[in-house]
Amino acid sequence: MLSELLLTEIARLSLQGKLPLHRQLYEALRRAILDGKLAAGERLPSSRELTQDLNLSRNTVVAALSQLAVEGYLVSHVGSGTFVNDNVPKAAARRPSAQHGHGMKLSRRGQALATSFCATQLEIQPFTPGIADFSAFPVALWQRLQNKHWRMTYPDMLDYSYSGGYAPLRRSVADYLRVFRSVPLEVEQVIITSGTQQSMDLCAQLLADHNDTVWLEDPAYWGAVKAFMATGLKLHPVAVDQHGIAPQARDEAAPPRLIYVTPSHQYPTGAVMSLARRHQILSLAKQHKAWILEDDYDSEFRFSGPPISSLAGLDTDERVLYMGSFSKVLYPGLKLGYLVVPKGLVAAFKQAHYDLNRPGQMPLQAALAEFIEMGHFASALRRARQSYAERRRCLLAALQPCLGQHAQITGAEQGLHLCLRLPGVVDDKALAERIARLGLTVRALSAYCLERKDAKGLVIGYGYATLADIERCGPLLARAVSETLERLNKPA
Ligand SMILES: Cc1ncc(COP(=O)(O)O)c(C=O)c1O
Repeated sequence: MLSELLLTEIARLSLQGKLPLHRQLYEALRRAILDGKLAAGERLPSSRELTQDLNLSRNTVVAALSQLAVEGYLVSHVGSGTFVNDNVPKAAARRPSAQHGHGMKLSRRGQALATSFCATQLEIQPFTPGIADFSAFPVALWQRLQNKHWRMTYPDMLDYSYSGGYAPLRRSVADYLRVFRSVPLEVEQVIITSGTQQSMDLCAQLLADHNDTVWLEDPAYWGAVKAFMATGLKLHPVAVDQHGIAPQARDEAAPPRLIYVTPSHQYPTGAVMSLARRHQILSLAKQHKAWILEDDYDSEFRFSGPPISSLAGLDTDERVLYMGSFSKVLYPGLKLGYLVVPKGLVAAFKQAHYDLNRPGQMPLQAALAEFIEMGHFASALRRARQSYAERRRCLLAALQPCLGQHAQITGAEQGLHLCLRLPGVVDDKALAERIARLGLTVRALSAYCLERKDAKGLVIGYGYATLADIERCGPLLARAVSETLERLNKPA
């Protein structure tokens, strides 16, 4: 029984083609334990038996069992065998709840923050949106640059950074933004942060007070939702249409202090904000004396259609704060991004950033500055663009059979994901779960929705999936969608 369960799970995991065998067995066992299929205290077959039943090598089995033992899922008792640890939390118990044991009660805000928005458990598999293929990152080169900067480092570089970040890095960012995003800026306006999350946090802390209103796109990027929730702002969802955020008269009844937008490729629908809408948002911001937070998270990857300049580039009233990140082109764990603030806010932002966050990591920033100066960033970007363009083409081709009147693609001109829009009657969460059972991660569009009930579909990433993954798994995805649509058409 156990071996059947494990073999099914391993077959599912192997569809991804990325995990080595011992890791697949580890995952299969870990899931069986967390789902309660292997009960606490239950005795496992010996490694010899598992080797035979699963037709795996002994080394593979031993490596998986050892890892599970190290992580506390299994315990061995000499002479009597290996058992599931009595203290492993069950999947349900791992979900955050209001009551964390004796007297450990989260605040209401804490409960909201600790509740998963829509991230799935096993993130790294084909079609997970929001993930770039950082396996292509030139690790050896990066290591050489890091070593060099650590060798050359002087005491000031080990201190907190007061000036908004390492000057040559800020210069490189300013040059890039002037040329490629048409942002007219001085170097002093660039502040290096630990990514967009921190940039949003700083803006919310400094530009809005508790209970002020932030307009958010509906559906929305969950990272932004959490950042604004954490700062005690009132979230006001504004529905997105094919031209991006689309404020109506009723929205103006909740006047915004902040307007958070992803204009070049709305996350997650992929809508590109039209020029008319850009002017509308800028003039609304002016009218309400609000600030616009422009999250330009994947603007580096544009595959078709005319280039789009930034909102910051159109702003004549110093109302836009522009946020960018190195997470997509380099790797997310780098945790470096940048925030461009209007000149009048530079001193206040630097001071508050210093006091709130104690920024640092100057040797890392120096290595990144050199990486950019030497042209490695440009070539990483060129390679990434080429590779994502191929993946995108391949995914579009794979999805072709399920497209039609009831299934349309939006947002495929740019970025690392696209959105497959489905009719409002489709249970997109059930469909995403069905697809998850094939070993693929897509997200239901409705899982990103704050208020609206009409937006259904699948958010599908092609950043992480290799061409081979897409060729193998794309048809499975398309078939699952077609079957769901066929079922809708059948009379009950
Ligand atoms: C909409 C959006 N903004 C920003 C980011 C990048 O955030 P960070 O710089 O915090 O890694 C992401 C990454 O997934 C994103 O999807």
